Amino acid sequence: MTTPLLEARALVKTYGHVQALRGANFTAYAGEVVALIGDNGAGKSTLVSCLSGTSQADAGEVWFEGRQVRLDSPAHAQRLGIEVVYQDLALAADLDPAANLFLGRELMRPGVLGWFGVLDRRRMREEATAAFGELGIELPDAGTRVSSLSGGQRQSVAVARSVAWASKVIFMDEPTAALGVVQRERVLDVMRRVRDRGIAVVLISHNMPEVLAVADRVEVLRLGQRVARFDIAGVSLDDLVGAMTGALDVTDGAA
Ligand SMILES: Nc1ncnc2c1ncn2[C@@H]1O[C@H](COP(=O)(O)OP(=O)(O)O)[C@@H](O)[C@H]1O
Ligand SMILES: [Mg+2]
Repeated sequence: MTTPLLEARALVKTYGHVQALRGANFTAYAGEVVALIGDNGAGKSTLVSCLSGTSQADAGEVWFEGRQVRLDSPAHAQRLGIEVVYQDLALAADLDPAANLFLGRELMRPGVLGWFGVLDRRRMREEATAAFGELGIELPDAGTRVSSLSGGQRQSVAVARSVAWASKVIFMDEPTAALGVVQRERVLDVMRRVRDRGIAVVLISHNMPEVLAVADRVEVLRLGQRVARFDIAGVSLDDLVGAMTGALDVTDGAA
């Protein structure tokens, strides 16, 4: 089997008296959509934060491209090509979509599309229009402020922004939760396109039909531990729900 792109090994993370992660394992491979599912409080967001440099585990290891790494900060993870799309959209409302795409990146290394940090607005717009187009995202006008876009369009900008810079792994924490049916389908389509570029797409979702529609694999967290892994072929809704709730007796260690 191929080397995982990103791997959590026996991560432990404690907040006060709460053990959010109790030896959690997780694996993501290049060129797949892997769904990370689990009930509320299972530890999904905590795991994502430990794998994206937002927080550091108390114990356990993170492996990236076959080497153990210590992700000190989000910037460190970003330099490795690891991006996160958050539920709450961290966009600058007064700027246009193109400016948002480049926000805070002006001096950083080129992203996956080979962009350089330029402050030339025209070039930024051209590059942004190309990036949105490549992802199948339609915006009314690249010069429109983000504050006047619909919720779905804003979400698309947030997704595009992370996707544009993610060269290896992208975490999407409930990316379609606030979207209508059409926008939701678009975002799923974007996920497939990003996967087809060879990137590992990690989808955190409560929407099981969506997981079944887009994921190639599923990993299940319960009470801070990975309790099951499934290939999407042949898996049923009952299998997924059973693993999440503990009704289905499954065990899965690091193997
Ligand atoms: N910053 C924090 N401070 C205190 N407790 C936290 C914090 N983050 C998460 N937790 C707790 O850790 C557990 C796992 O939370 P979380 O990772 O958000 O789960 P999920 O994303 O699967 O719903 C929960 O019991 C939650 O209350
Ligand atoms: Mg969460």
